[in-house]
Parts: sequence; C-alpha cells; structure tokens
Amino acid sequence: MAEWELREADLDRIVVTRLSLVERVQHIVLMVSFTILIVTGIPLLFPDTPLVHVFGGAFPVRTFLHRFAGSTLALLAAFHVLYVLFSQDGRRDFGWIAPRTQDVRDFMHYVRYQLGKTDEPPPFGKFNPFEKIEYFAVVWGSAVMVATGFMMWFFEATLRVFPKWVYDLILLVHGYEALLAFLSIILWHLYNVHLKPGAFPISRVWIDGKVTLRHLKEHHPREYRSWLRRHRAGLTGDET
Ligand code: HEM
Repeated sequence: MAEWELREADLDRIVVTRLSLVERVQHIVLMVSFTILIVTGIPLLFPDTPLVHVFGGAFPVRTFLHRFAGSTLALLAAFHVLYVLFSQDGRRDFGWIAPRTQDVRDFMHYVRYQLGKTDEPPPFGKFNPFEKIEYFAVVWGSAVMVATGFMMWFFEATLRVFPKWVYDLILLVHGYEALLAFLSIILWHLYNVHLKPGAFPISRVWIDGKVTLRHLKEHHPREYRSWLRRHRAGLTGDET
C-alpha cells in the first residue's frame, strides 16, 4: 500500500480543521449578539402580546442591551471584512465561498441525487451551494440590520437628511428582516448543522473546529480529494 493511501480506520481517526480558532470566536460573538438582538428586538414587533414583558417590560434595560449587541455586531462585521481582506485563511476561504458556475452544476447534481437519478453524491467542495447562500444571507442581513439600526438609533440625524416616509420604511425593513433572520436561523441553520440525520444531536465544529476525514469524504468530496493530493505530496499538517 502506498504511503499516502488510507485505511478504513484512518477515516475516523484523522481529523482536519474546518474552522480556525479566530473563525470560531467570530461565530460565537455572532451567535451571542444575534441571540440578544432577537430576544430584545422581536418582542417589539408584537406589542399586544405577553412577549413584550420579557425583562419585566424594563424598556431601558432592553433597549440598552439591544444597542450594545447591535454595536457588537457592527464591530464584528468590520473585523470580518478586515479578516477576509488581510488574513491568509480569510482570503483563501472567501475565495472558496465566493459563488461560481460550478455551484450551479453541483446544485443540479444534488437535485438529480435527491431524485434518485444518480447514485454518485454531489461532489461539493469546502462550502456547498447552500452554505454559500447562508453565508451571503448573513453578510447581507447584517449590513441591512446595522445600517437601519443605526439610522433608528440616531433618528434625529436621519430625519434631517431623509423625509419621514424613508424613516418609516427603515423601521419596516428592520422589523421584517429581523423576523426573516430569526426564522431562517431557527428553521434552516439549526436544522442543517445540528438536527439533520448524520449531525444530530449536535455538530461540534463550532466548538473545536474539527471534522473527521470520513465527514470530509461524505460531505465535501472535492475538498477530500484535494486533501488526499496534498497528503500525498506531504503538505498536510493540521490533522491528528
Ligand atoms: C440581526 C440583528 C437585529 C435584530 C434581529 C433586530 C431586531 C429588532 C426589532 C425586531 C426591532 C423592533 C422594530 C419595530 O418596532 O418595528 C428593533 C428595533 C431597534 N433596533 Fe434592532 N435588530 C438587530 C440589529 C440592530 C442593530 C445592529 C442596531 C444598531 C445598533 C439596532 C438598533 C435598533 C434600534 C435603535 C431599535 C429601536 C428600538 C430600540 O431603541 O430598542 N438593531 N430591532
């Protein structure tokens, strides 16, 4: 057996890094700030329900927490832009997550696979088309929420520049985008990463950043093949 060839047991023994420490920290800051924003923001959309009495109806505490978490999200977004622009891992991963025509082919392959028209699983790379959509939805959603949130916070400045109807629109956009983000995290993200068969009861990637080679082979076959090529050339070093 050639040096680089893997035994079946190696697939479960060897783990590779999917999320680096700095990426995991960004994810945790996003998770905590987003949860606080949901808990302190969503009740305002339903003022006639008991939901609004979260924090015993303590408006100053709620609003302080919302603005604090909102500012944290804005700082995180700024950090993420710098991370993507200036760090080696950030630039490389952004190159992989950026949309390309291969994603359309992968998606069509996925549909054929789900319909039982082919036995070959879709050859996804590190990020499949659904993960890409989710990432860019978070980028877009955060930009909208940060922009509209600060315009609401500094409403006097906003009203000096824009007519009242623009301000009303900003309020609507902030509220409905919040609902959309909440539902997509609960229904889509949490199901896809933790609850679906194969991941249940919890994916640990957000905690230790690691996946087994078997996971790579089954869920990200193109990345697995690239790992094998680098392994053959003696270029892999992060696995244990
Ligand atoms: C994903 C992130 C966010 C969610 C889910 C969210 C959710 C909400 C919701 C549902 C409302 C009530 C809107 C209404 O009454 O129609 C609200 C109000 C508000 N949001 Fe956000 N928001 C987010 C981000 C932000 C950010 C980044 C800021 C900026 C610091 C911000 C600042 C505000 C302000 C100033 C209000 C008016 C009420 C208050 O003063 O607490 N929000 N938010």
